[in-house]
Amino acid sequence: MNANEIRQKFLDFQVKKGHTIIKPAPMVLTDDPTTLFTGSGMQPLLPFLLGQKHNQGTRLTDSQPCLRLQDIEDVGDPRHTTVFEMLGNWSLGDYFKEKQIRNFFEFLTKEIHLDPHKIYVTCFIGNDEYGIPKDTESAKIWQKVFKEVGIDAKIAEIGTAEQGNKRGIKPSERIFFYDDQENWWSRGGGIADTPIGDPCGPDSEVFYDFGEDKQDVNKYGPAHPASDGARFMEIGNQVFMEYRRNPDGTFSELDHKNVDFGGGLERIAAAAIDSYDVFQISSIRPIIDKLEQISGKSYADNTDEMRVIADHLRGAYLLAAQGLTPSNKQQGYAMRRLIRRAILRALDLGISQDFLAETLPVIAKEYESLPDDILSHRADALAVLEKEESAFRRTLNRGLKELNKIAKTSLDGFEIFKLQDTYGFPLELSVEEAYRRGIELSQNWRDEFDKALNEQRTRSQTASKGMFKGGLENHDEKTIKYHTAAHLLLAALQQLIDPKICQKGSNITAERLRFDFNLDHKMTDAEKQAVEAKVNKWISQDLPVTKAEYDKDYARNTLKAHGEFWDKYPNQLTVYTIGDDKNPVSREVCGGPHITHTGELGHFCIKKEESSSAGVRRIKAILE
Ligand code: ALA
Repeated sequence: MNANEIRQKFLDFQVKKGHTIIKPAPMVLTDDPTTLFTGSGMQPLLPFLLGQKHNQGTRLTDSQPCLRLQDIEDVGDPRHTTVFEMLGNWSLGDYFKEKQIRNFFEFLTKEIHLDPHKIYVTCFIGNDEYGIPKDTESAKIWQKVFKEVGIDAKIAEIGTAEQGNKRGIKPSERIFFYDDQENWWSRGGGIADTPIGDPCGPDSEVFYDFGEDKQDVNKYGPAHPASDGARFMEIGNQVFMEYRRNPDGTFSELDHKNVDFGGGLERIAAAAIDSYDVFQISSIRPIIDKLEQISGKSYADNTDEMRVIADHLRGAYLLAAQGLTPSNKQQGYAMRRLIRRAILRALDLGISQDFLAETLPVIAKEYESLPDDILSHRADALAVLEKEESAFRRTLNRGLKELNKIAKTSLDGFEIFKLQDTYGFPLELSVEEAYRRGIELSQNWRDEFDKALNEQRTRSQTASKGMFKGGLENHDEKTIKYHTAAHLLLAALQQLIDPKICQKGSNITAERLRFDFNLDHKMTDAEKQAVEAKVNKWISQDLPVTKAEYDKDYARNTLKAHGEFWDKYPNQLTVYTIGDDKNPVSREVCGGPHITHTGELGHFCIKKEESSSAGVRRIKAILE
């Protein structure tokens, strides 16, 4: 059974169980201040999980194309991909744990015909600090369900993944309790990282067992479901969304208890063919075959590279087919990064000519069954991506030219670093070119390169520390609010008193903010009141606070972001914007973190304004 068939079977099955098929959301999000891309099927359903009525009922299902860039560094192993389709079903205050667990088990064993002996599950162990009980109910349901197919499933308490790496599993154990890092689901991750206002809850994850021989025990320790080893792969996650995070950090039970199920289509397809390598499924393997053909190299000897290229090009294709174009901003920049990484990895395989024109049609074919209204720009996708490929090759060639200029007979690590930092010409290529041309590399080139890299890192860390001298005391909710308030304060001072005002230091704790800035006079009462009123107006407008990565030049010259250390910043930096993206209230280079909406700040009040040093004033302010 291939991925296209499994998608169809899942939707048919859920319809049989009373669900309505909804149209998936676009992958590229235009008005969500918290994320750039749809990363799970539940994302478009947030308001409904919080209680708003959905006009298509209380039982919904879909298959949602997703992009998770946070997994990008993991791509290369047998199972991680940045792009995937998430099969989803939801109960909005309708059925709960028992029906969900039974339905999914039935789907896996009766529809996909997975062997129930190869299914292992995990549940939430509970958390005393936040008063969330252990999910014994789900564990008991699982035990019953396994018993009905003749399997005696024992329950084991593991705790953290590290504890699992030491303990492994014992005979007959099939149901495992883990902590919130594994079995709590929110858009932010574990319990403490759950975003304020978001729905969340304990989850029960389902794993497929590819067999003991798949685990590299020397590297990963004995196998258990939450291990990074290859024996167990998560194929579905049932979140019992019964809580919502309060502004004070605690959790309240929701009136409507929901189920949010998500299962990776590609992973289920891999389990269906008993392949622990997701890249072997019939919707991905043809891309690998094409790469083998173009490079003349084998997948077996070039596994990591081919996985990265296949994954990134699938992602880039889907984005292009949904109408996104590469740029230096936000989603467009992420897309550009996927394409460039794919091209660089292709170079590692010796593919130095354009290869997208040959490879993309294979990907397009696999996505033929996704409807036109989801991939509305598929006709232009290939041209957009090929154009980007040529442009990037020109950049690479510029790097080569520069290398020719500086490396006549020898090349050192500092020069290699400069080529990478200034021209985007990667380290590996410099070294390879040097060998190819018989240019001598300095004896310590690697140490020199690392030294230059470390110096640059220290410079940028100093820069981001300097932005908030003394830094944030910690990252708790109150401190983060004060951090956002400091950005609003600077913007108000610039708008109302002098656009040349800069931050000269700050110190932020959970109780107050202290903010130093250049000004040649004591602030008058009227000035203080106006600044206070301005900040409070922005708070009452509940403006979104968004974060994005940019090229330094773009951030400085086009966006006109506020920054104090332009010569020290790295080439890529993070910018926080408050308010409308086109006409923001504040835009600053900053490492974060920040809250997501100014409405959370409360009332801003200046307690004191005094001299700090010559020409520098200091404001102490609180949020009430
Ligand atoms: N929302 C859940 C997840 O992404 C199902 O894993």
